[in-house]
Amino acid sequence: MTPSDIEKLIEAAEKAVRNAIAPYSKFKVGAAVLASDGRTFTGCNIENPSLMLTCCAERIALLKALSEGCKSFKALAVVSNKGDYCFPCGCCRQMLSEFAPGISIYLKSKTGIKRYSIEELLPYPFVR
Ligand code: THU
Repeated sequence: MTPSDIEKLIEAAEKAVRNAIAPYSKFKVGAAVLASDGRTFTGCNIENPSLMLTCCAERIALLKALSEGCKSFKALAVVSNKGDYCFPCGCCRQMLSEFAPGISIYLKSKTGIKRYSIEELLPYPFVR
């Protein structure tokens, strides 16, 4: 990933935040995943009054890509409207570990950008 690739992916995630539906938490998240074939898919969190039905931005981006036939992934960018680093939740880490092994995860806050591998964020995923 070049600095310009990272910047573009973060910009896509920032754009996706605008579509977040988060009336309960007011915490808006945007994600963008870059597939190995060069395609980018974005997602935002979508909340529901039955709170357990809420979907995270990362999983929406990943599921959009998987449902369009993407099989491998290079990078994921995640941003929120709060300006702090937004680390993917445990469910999203498990899904990324299964479908996007080796993926780089870029988090942007108002102080900078951090990069992690999914293996750093979830060293012991559930496997069967
Ligand atoms: N959320 C995400 O979209 N991604 C994360 O990694 C953490 C949390 C959403 C779920 C919920 O809509 C809100 O952020 C926090 O309550």
